Amino acid sequence: MQDAYGRQIDYLRLSVTDLCNFRCQYCMPPEGVKKQQHRAILSVEECAEIAGAAVRCGVGKIRLTGGEPLVRRGILDICRRLRALPGLEELCLTTNGSLLPQLAGPLRDAGVDRLNISLDTLRPDRFSRLTRLGRLEDALSGIRAAEEAGFSRLKLDTVLIGRFNDDEIGDFLQLTLDHPWEVRFIELMPMGPCAAWDKGCFLSGETVLERYPALEPLESQGVARRYRLPGAKGSVGLISPVSHDFCGSCRRIRVTADGHLKGCLHSREEIPLRGLHGAELEAAIRQGIAQKPERHRLALGASDTPRNMNQIGG
Ligand code: 5AD
Ligand code: SF4
Repeated sequence: MQDAYGRQIDYLRLSVTDLCNFRCQYCMPPEGVKKQQHRAILSVEECAEIAGAAVRCGVGKIRLTGGEPLVRRGILDICRRLRALPGLEELCLTTNGSLLPQLAGPLRDAGVDRLNISLDTLRPDRFSRLTRLGRLEDALSGIRAAEEAGFSRLKLDTVLIGRFNDDEIGDFLQLTLDHPWEVRFIELMPMGPCAAWDKGCFLSGETVLERYPALEPLESQGVARRYRLPGAKGSVGLISPVSHDFCGSCRRIRVTADGHLKGCLHSREEIPLRGLHGAELEAAIRQGIAQKPERHRLALGASDTPRNMNQIGG
């Protein structure tokens, strides 16, 4: 279905939990999600019902997000239910990778087509400091497990953080020489805990191109401008929501873990979907698409959403 600005909306990002086994400094408060704030999340049944209605509204691609989707009880059930929806072309999932050693195979069997794995640093000490609870080793084992389970064309998502990992851009590019992966540098968006961070942490994606002029442009794909190092097996993506917003070609809607439809990651506007079924549910989704804001105003300051990223899902 088209929105009011003529954009074809065919991509749903469904957050299946706001919990996470990491506490990345830019995303979550150190204490995690407090129990009293932890509003009930969608059941497996509700996830499947909402996804089904979205597919009937023209969605062909669904990405499961979190929090960390792999800590969600019933995640494999959710994947199987969604995979069985007639009309769904692609089922993807974004994960921090730490639970893939156990779950990569079962996710593949449950019908997940593609994985994005977040990886912000290749240094064990930095990884532990940034994620507070994570270990680099586990994420790297997760990447290997994903490959062994048959996930090809992996995407590795790296949030660029000034004075934290910008000295590792070269190391990440190096990974693309021997692996058929797409390493994607994502601009840090000022929302949640990192909204208050020093300006120096917010780097433009152009930083990568300025420092590595050998990168050759490839065709863009979705929201990523793509490049390749000469002779590399993999590619490099730049996702620049702040400096080069992609609102004009945005195809997405989002559903939060507690069942609210968001037309835009950065907007306050939400439509509650819980308790709606059948035609009513579809009508609410169509309304959300129709009301999708034209663009976000991130470049002017912080995000307008009162939610943290772990509730909306990247
Ligand atoms: N800016 C950019 N990316 C973010 N993510 C979480 N918070 C932010 C932010 N403020 C990313 C994670 C992961 C995905 C789930 O969302 O790093 O790649
Ligand atoms: Fe968890 Fe991802 Fe947030 Fe890190 S960025 S705390 S891995 S949801």
